[in-house]
Amino acid sequence: MGRIRFLDELTANSIAAGEVVERPASVVKELCENSVDAGASVIVVEIRGGGITEISVTDNGAGMDDEDALAAFGRHATSKMTRIDDLDSIGTLGFRGEALASIAAVSRVALTTRRIETPTGTVVRIEGGRLLLHAPTGCPEGTRIVVEGLFYNTPARYKFLKKDATEAGQVSDVIGRMALACPGISFRLLSNGAEVLHTPGNNDLKSAIFAVYGREAVENLVEVDGRDDVVRTTGYVGLPAIARKSRQTQTLFVNGRLVRSRTVTSAVDRAFETLLMKDRYAFTVLNLTMPQNLVDVNVHPQKMEVRFWNDGAVFSAVHSAVRSALQAGLHIPGPSDAQESPDPASAPAPSPSAAKPSFYEQVPLATLPFREPAAFPVQTVRSAAADSSTAPAPAPSASIPPRVDDLRDARPVGKLFNTYLLLELGDDLLLVDQHAAHERILYERLLQRFERHVALSQPLLAPLVVELSPADLNAAVDAAEVLKGLGYDFDSFGPRSVMLRAVPVPYRGMEPRAAFLAAVDGLESLAPSDPESIRELLHTVACKAAVKAHDTLDDAEAEALLEDLRGIENPYTCPHGRPVIIRIPKYELEKRFKRIV
Ligand SMILES: Nc1ncnc2c1ncn2[C@@H]1O[C@H](COP(=O)(O)OP(=O)(O)OP(=O)(O)O)[C@@H](O)[C@H]1O
Ligand SMILES: [Mg+2]
Repeated sequence: MGRIRFLDELTANSIAAGEVVERPASVVKELCENSVDAGASVIVVEIRGGGITEISVTDNGAGMDDEDALAAFGRHATSKMTRIDDLDSIGTLGFRGEALASIAAVSRVALTTRRIETPTGTVVRIEGGRLLLHAPTGCPEGTRIVVEGLFYNTPARYKFLKKDATEAGQVSDVIGRMALACPGISFRLLSNGAEVLHTPGNNDLKSAIFAVYGREAVENLVEVDGRDDVVRTTGYVGLPAIARKSRQTQTLFVNGRLVRSRTVTSAVDRAFETLLMKDRYAFTVLNLTMPQNLVDVNVHPQKMEVRFWNDGAVFSAVHSAVRSALQAGLHIPGPSDAQESPDPASAPAPSPSAAKPSFYEQVPLATLPFREPAAFPVQTVRSAAADSSTAPAPAPSASIPPRVDDLRDARPVGKLFNTYLLLELGDDLLLVDQHAAHERILYERLLQRFERHVALSQPLLAPLVVELSPADLNAAVDAAEVLKGLGYDFDSFGPRSVMLRAVPVPYRGMEPRAAFLAAVDGLESLAPSDPESIRELLHTVACKAAVKAHDTLDDAEAEALLEDLRGIENPYTCPHGRPVIIRIPKYELEKRFKRIV
């Protein structure tokens, strides 16, 4: 007799459960997604013991009739899809028909549910996949599912669970993100009886961001709304002031589904390139809308991975949407806009969501590097009720901060430490870092010319012999194409030198030999076919060629510098993400002089 057997349904379910249900946060995600699919406008989640002891999810959605209440727990039982072709047009979050079966296989589940049109509801109890009760009951319309003793019958899984507080943090993380995906739904999370999160559900994404991340976040958002033929990119990105040391404050939806995508992450990184300090990541809440058949969501049981029909097209859609939003939204940073993480000692009490790594970052494949936990806790909004009438509203935005174009109206008032140019503009004192400003101008010009293949060279009156070490000479000859693309013209001249005939135009004023050596210096880590390393070389060249702090600029030079600054794409940070201009409002000075209190 053959040795191959079909597994019984219970065993099969509990194996499948391993893929769908990993921890309390994954249970919560599945249950909330079901509530969203059922059209709920209010979803209340309560957890005890980090969700290991108990999770309950209550919604005011469509509910189920008596028959469906039982069928829902069957493997591959779904009301959301019937044929494989439906996968091309999935409009619901669920479609695999295995979440409830999986959850019920590894816990004790009680479901009570009622459809609006039926006077009585149904209760179903299942323990470790075994049906204990299926009976009529009185209950409000909608659905309530209580999951107790997660993994009580699978000790091998149970032991991988983390401390309660860590699990609670993961739950709060996933609910926060779902609330951002569905701003029209009010989400409320209680942990051991205390409210952790409450979103208004008033269909305003900014209000949801306020409820999840707090006031500082909403005060530093730039709206994104870009579209090309196929992809629409909407949502918000944060100004550099709220960039963090991890990706924990990055959230992405594709057609309303919470997912992760390396393509989108790199497009955002690229759009923020040179705007953020090293190892800082932008705050983002982005939703990509595209035809359903251009994105495959059925890549992994937890449905957090997606495959796009064309990664390049998605990259450029996101990149250009975020880039143009930033161009419109960046401004001269004031006192509270410094790119700093809150000091852990003075930050609000850490919420459970500060645990690392987040459910979102962790599930299911480690396609993103794990980082430090974000020091940007989920905000507790205690006073909010479920309906939108008493919803927490975002703070009214303050007056619009000045932009670099406004420098035209600024009055130069002097120079400080031979390093900063001082300007008066309305009720602000502006300080421009002359080195950072010049560095940015040179960088952008070199980059533009390089990318457009229109290097502007300035021929030298007399060619110049520049001596190099043999290693530098080799590097220069190897990178001749790149250097020519920048505007250098040279030939090797003997074993240890080159004949330099031209340097790029922005070097006017800089000694040509030094200009050439600056570029050669940056060749060390150049990989000519890697655009990022070419930009890195341009950083080096720009940095070395720029006026230094303590170089004395005369008035005409200072004016020319400010004029140039107004003409470039991103005048607010140097290529390393440090600020070029800062703003000190008059009231800051008046406070210090005690003219106002
Ligand atoms: N809160 C709810 N309100 C109404 N119906 C629900 C609810 N939760 C589950 N259901 C019903 O139970 C079915 C099974 O749910 P389950 O989560 O197991 O599968 P699914 O959502 O169809 O697919 P997936 O496994 O991808 O989540 C759903 O298709 C839906 O008809
Ligand atoms: Mg589901």
